[in-house]
Amino acid sequence: METIVLGSSEGELRHAAELIRAGEVVGIPTETVYGLAANAFDAAAVEKIFRAKGRPSDNPLIVHIADFSAVYEIASEIPPLAKKLSEAFWPGPLTMIMPKSPKIPLITSGGLDTVGIRMPSHPAAKRLIELCGVPLAAPSANLSGSPSPTTAQRVFEDMNGRIPAIIDGGESDVGVESTVIAFEDNGVRILRPGGITREMLLTVAKSVTVDPGVLNELSEGAVARSPGMKYKHYAPKAQVILIKGESGAYREYVLKNACAGDFCLVFEKGEAAPDLPYLCYGATPGEQAHRLFECLRRLDELGAKRVFARCPSPEGVGLAVYNRILRASGFCVIDLEVD
Ligand code: TXA
Ligand code: MG
Repeated sequence: METIVLGSSEGELRHAAELIRAGEVVGIPTETVYGLAANAFDAAAVEKIFRAKGRPSDNPLIVHIADFSAVYEIASEIPPLAKKLSEAFWPGPLTMIMPKSPKIPLITSGGLDTVGIRMPSHPAAKRLIELCGVPLAAPSANLSGSPSPTTAQRVFEDMNGRIPAIIDGGESDVGVESTVIAFEDNGVRILRPGGITREMLLTVAKSVTVDPGVLNELSEGAVARSPGMKYKHYAPKAQVILIKGESGAYREYVLKNACAGDFCLVFEKGEAAPDLPYLCYGATPGEQAHRLFECLRRLDELGAKRVFARCPSPEGVGLAVYNRILRASGFCVIDLEVD
């Protein structure tokens, strides 16, 4: 199969919508990361997403909509707080888990009786969903286990020959995937941190709990609240070592421990150890979110075997950055702040 890259003109979006209506999978831009989209109601089309990604069948997909009214078709029960949160944060990087309606096939929900729903804000994604006339199931458009793609070019590298088309809608704005929340007695639980932060959720919800799975490795035999938690994720081929500590201590540690061929992943120029190649992923949580996945992919291209990464501060969207890089490192953290 030849994979074509389309722009996001109305004509090209119509072409992509025809493919999706015919049961095909299309790579689509969103404000978080690129997705692999198919008709969420069509089990055979959704099956193609799992095959293209090499994704385990028990890992559920998020269903994307363009108008709140679609929730009534997808969810069998809508918590009143979901409506309030949608008014505050949709369209945008927030996925809400609700009991699923029978119209959503089990393959879409990974066999669960719940479904994650999100309304993306990227104009091309929104228009495409409208043109399709059905909600779109879409995981991130990477091969399973790899860093999520934030450009059409990165989707092409992973998906060339596996899907018929990719829509190029420019660089993803946020750069990390949506915040995934579940509803609890008097508030919400964050299963995956993202662009909508805990602080933002607290302006609407009385209580916001961060699930322990966000920052800790799942212990042997434990049941994941979100199946995505149990899979190796976002990992480049290089071994990533996450270094907690201020820039002086970081540099001293790297100077002492690095060998030729190791790389530094730092916030800003000047923090890397002299003579080692380095990439910068930004000085603010927003920049770090925007650049992290592209840096991880670039490190592989550069042939990095081992990467000493400065640990981001888990404030605001930084919690999402920390969660992703922690998983990319396989929970390999060196804390220079404890003595
Ligand atoms: O920003 C995003 O959310 C992107 C773009 C394309 O929208 N999508 C995305 O999808 O990141 P994916 O499939 O790569 O990640 C979805 C995560 C997984 O960790 C999955 O386990 C969790 O959400 N999830 C989905 N439905 C769930 C459910 N019903 N219950 C618990 N976790 C769920
Ligand atoms: Mg993913």
